[in-house]
Amino acid sequence: MQRRKLGNSGLEVSALGFGCMGLNFLDGKGLEKKDAITLLRNAVEQGVTFFDTAEAYGPYTNEEIVGEALQPYRKDVVIATKFGCKDASPAVGLDSRPETIRAVVEASLKRLRTDYIDLLYQHRVDPNVPIEDVAGTVQELIKEGKVKYFGLSEASAKTIRKAHSVQPVSALQSEYSLFWREPENEIIPTLEELGIGFVPFSPLGKGFLTGIINKKLEDVDRRNIIPRFSEENIKANMVLVDALSEIAEQKSITTGQLALAWLLAQKPWIAPIPGTTKLHRLEENIASTTVVLTADELAKINTTVNDIELVGDRYPEFLEKQIDR
Ligand SMILES: NC(=O)c1ccc[n+]([C@@H]2O[C@H](COP(=O)([O-])OP(=O)(O)OC[C@H]3O[C@@H](n4cnc5c(N)ncnc54)[C@H](OP(=O)(O)O)[C@@H]3O)[C@@H](O)[C@H]2O)c1
Repeated sequence: MQRRKLGNSGLEVSALGFGCMGLNFLDGKGLEKKDAITLLRNAVEQGVTFFDTAEAYGPYTNEEIVGEALQPYRKDVVIATKFGCKDASPAVGLDSRPETIRAVVEASLKRLRTDYIDLLYQHRVDPNVPIEDVAGTVQELIKEGKVKYFGLSEASAKTIRKAHSVQPVSALQSEYSLFWREPENEIIPTLEELGIGFVPFSPLGKGFLTGIINKKLEDVDRRNIIPRFSEENIKANMVLVDALSEIAEQKSITTGQLALAWLLAQKPWIAPIPGTTKLHRLEENIASTTVVLTADELAKINTTVNDIELVGDRYPEFLEKQIDR
């Protein structure tokens, strides 16, 4: 698979990474550990070198899966993980105090079966801890060799600048897809100016853009807390998927591939991290890296999306409050 450089930092990853959260965390069911490990190893064999996890996924168990799966390939892959939730749970709150960051990193290193984390993100900006202190703590960890690169997630342009002035930020991981285009306003220009890479999370709109979610989700599904995934909003937002499907069909690709190829076409320093629990979908997603969208096709997608008003917030109130503004 082609590789991409995440900004000016020197960090190079496969154009498409693998978002590991859903392996045991998204739809409330997930895979058996051994099956998740097999899938991740398959991803490596197919050229994926960029894997995304967090202590909060599970909590903890996702990092354990990733650590075991990637141990034989450690030097050939980039492992990204995150700190910043109180008790490893966004529902409990945020905690980026320097002593917590250090403790989380030590625990993550053990679960990930490694002595360094390639890319360490702050999961959410903690309003109670100055970002300069967070950046300074990560800088110390980099000097100690425990961390290679520093990242932020869902940080505002102002916070990105402040953090970057203390310790260069290599990547921002925030939601970005045809289902959520807010980063185009201020974030992407800021990243471009500062030479920071962008890792869009939920690049398939948490599955919605592929067309697989067309009715009420099962009760165990974690996406039920998201207003966009209420039964009526799913129904209303299907107009987007229908419009994208038409364009995808004309190109003989799937709607999911269209969504990923569109992201890859936005900037050469963007590396999306779709997640899946299925081998055939992993292969389908990887194939999106060879899809070339022409300027006319990109313009058509933009016009189509701009004409559609999506309904429902992307986060429930308690999670929206944790977004840095
Ligand atoms: N920083 C943050 O705060 C944050 C927040 C959310 C996510 N993330 C990261 O981003 C990663 C990806 O985000 P996400 O899991 O929320 O959403 P996503 O990658 O946009 O979508 C995942 C969903 O799409 C389905 N899917 C994947 N490929 C498909 C295909 N080709 N056809 C049909 N369905 C397909 C998966 O179902 P199956 O498993 O059934 O295939 C799953 O339900 C996560 O794993 C996590 O690492 C980070």
